[in-house]
Amino acid sequence: MSRLDGPLKTSGTAVFTAETRPEGMCYAFLATSTIAAGRIVALDVDAARRAPGVLLVMTHENAPTLGRPDLFVENPVDGAAFNPVPPLQGDRIDWNGQPIAMVVAETLEQAEYASRLVVAEYAIEDGRTDLDALLHEAEPPDSVLGEPACLAQGDAEAMLDASAYSIDADYRSPRMAHSAIEIHACTVVWRGTQMVLHDASQLIGASRKALVKMFDLEDDALHVVSPFVGGAFGGKVLWDHQILAIAGARALQRPLRMLLSREDVSRFTGGRTETRQRVALGADEEGRLTALIHTGTVANAMHSTWPEQFSFPARHLYASETVKIEQRVVPLHMMPPAPMRAPGEATGTFALESALDELAAKIGIDPIALRKRNEPPRDPSSGLAFSSRRLVEMYDRGAERFGWSQRSAEPGRHRDGRWRIGHGMATAYYPYIRAPGAQVGVVLGVDGCLTLRSSAHEMGMGTVTVQVQHAAERFGLPVSAVAFEYGDSRLPAGPAAGGSAQTVSLLAAVMDAAGKLKDALLRLAGDASPLAGLQADDAEFRAAGLGRVGDDTRFETFAAILARAGMDQIAVEGVGAAPGELEARSMHSYGAQFCEVCVHEGTGETRVTRFVGAFDCGRILNARTAASQFRGGIIMGLGLALMEEVQFDPRYGRIMNPSLGEYHIPVHLDVPEIDVIWSDVPDAFAPLGARGIGEISITGVGAAVANAIYNATGRRIRDLPLTLDKIMR
Ligand code: MOS
Repeated sequence: MSRLDGPLKTSGTAVFTAETRPEGMCYAFLATSTIAAGRIVALDVDAARRAPGVLLVMTHENAPTLGRPDLFVENPVDGAAFNPVPPLQGDRIDWNGQPIAMVVAETLEQAEYASRLVVAEYAIEDGRTDLDALLHEAEPPDSVLGEPACLAQGDAEAMLDASAYSIDADYRSPRMAHSAIEIHACTVVWRGTQMVLHDASQLIGASRKALVKMFDLEDDALHVVSPFVGGAFGGKVLWDHQILAIAGARALQRPLRMLLSREDVSRFTGGRTETRQRVALGADEEGRLTALIHTGTVANAMHSTWPEQFSFPARHLYASETVKIEQRVVPLHMMPPAPMRAPGEATGTFALESALDELAAKIGIDPIALRKRNEPPRDPSSGLAFSSRRLVEMYDRGAERFGWSQRSAEPGRHRDGRWRIGHGMATAYYPYIRAPGAQVGVVLGVDGCLTLRSSAHEMGMGTVTVQVQHAAERFGLPVSAVAFEYGDSRLPAGPAAGGSAQTVSLLAAVMDAAGKLKDALLRLAGDASPLAGLQADDAEFRAAGLGRVGDDTRFETFAAILARAGMDQIAVEGVGAAPGELEARSMHSYGAQFCEVCVHEGTGETRVTRFVGAFDCGRILNARTAASQFRGGIIMGLGLALMEEVQFDPRYGRIMNPSLGEYHIPVHLDVPEIDVIWSDVPDAFAPLGARGIGEISITGVGAAVANAIYNATGRRIRDLPLTLDKIMR
């Protein structure tokens, strides 16, 4: 089935947040700090206040007092922010690019112009801006998303020294910036005394709760809508701009729009943090791992509490006699990092899967054979049985599809003129996550139409399409009779779109609602119905009605049941239970990434010429939307591998490339044909057998490209991005 939102988007009729045009709207623009650390000593806003069209200049001197926003990592149901420090609450500056004033004017141009007239005088402190210079201060956090920061099984360091084969290498990844096509924006609209926040958001329910609490509002004084989101990838959460937009609209009692510039997106809406990682592997003569060490440090903002989970893949992928895993954090004067598609797993697999390739080369065995030799019978860190794990099958199917057998084990053997050709592979990994308590309302009308209602998000990945498809099948209706109302916080509380978990979290709630609807309809049918006396277990949804299982003679349409009862509609609400499936099983998705590169021997330029991804994510619910998700993640992975890098001036902690002119992401000419295949074997422990697909396909891509570059050139690059200067060095 094609995406239901496709025609709206291709015809330009989908209204995005920054296209909402309330009557009498004013526009806000933010002025941001140009130092990394210190205090504002004086703020001259006179010129800005006198500038044409200016209605309000808000600074820490006249901003309303705001509570601390609830953080997503501390409370994923009600928390939405990644920066725990509310904006404009004091003179303290903690990163270069931090908002210091909001200017509101009659037009966007007036607001932007006046924001440039705000002059700040600072007491500058020495900022903590250089991760490498501060690595010695790194400390383990209390936990990494509920997992221990450090794990040890046996004495891995001693075992490493005693192993027949070993490698010990350091890997680096830079800060990366979210680059969704739709720039962050919000529009505040008034409905009487109630504010409606049109937001580009992947967590509207949690944003609403966090904002209501921060501003100490009545519960019904604010609601949040977000019908379309032009890409989010973890970056469209609650930031300073929505908070200040509410403050401005409230102060002026006018509708207000805040549309960020691409530069502002770079400066204060998070991004993937920097990592410094060490992977050391020891193996015996046969290539069995004797030591698996994955340690490292991530940069974090001064007040952030979320350490990016680069060590998660190493906890679940390979069997090893001894294990040592350690995550540490260094706080820096930088904006709070945000999740960015497979945060942690994307960079963690770069290091781990590069190291596996280095070990395979050292032992002289095939990289796939090495991984298969270390396939664990149970989860290596929890000891739990796997719910379903078909990784070996994906190695084989991917290798077959890619033509892995044609690869030369020795680097530098294939060439085409001055282009050296190389082949590399890596494992992909992402956990199964399901949000507890997701709610979906189901309304069935006497006209036979069914509506799902939940405050969920359509960010372009096919959420609505897949939910409609599922409901049509489950309730025995044609797709045309099913609608999905979503993207509005007044609807039953849906999950955030994050952690590749929205689809399965909604499915669990719809399945719960289906049971409740069946019970309700059987009660309603009564004695005059052909269904009279049927127990729920004997009844099934089919052909727009309810019938006895295996018995065509006992059936009644939804319309007939409701009409006899004199009802226009019947409504039930489903709730997804807590994800108890995770207590008994180790549940993860897996994949194998295969890459062919050409590296020019004169310039060091790398072109990716072929790519195959083979994924085991349980059941695939829609082949079209899944293929698009998998390809999209791989393309984003090519950016991580070859070009994405936020560049800081270490003297000022200032981002020097806050635009898509200087911060490079793949364009069409950088992207080859990408072939994606999948196992499509249901996971018996997940709703509908599906484990989520949004993030896994970016994982492993960095290593697959690095390993292919090694195979082409004999050069091992351990520092992302894999640019030509490092290859030629
Ligand atoms: Mo995601 S990085 O969980 O949107």
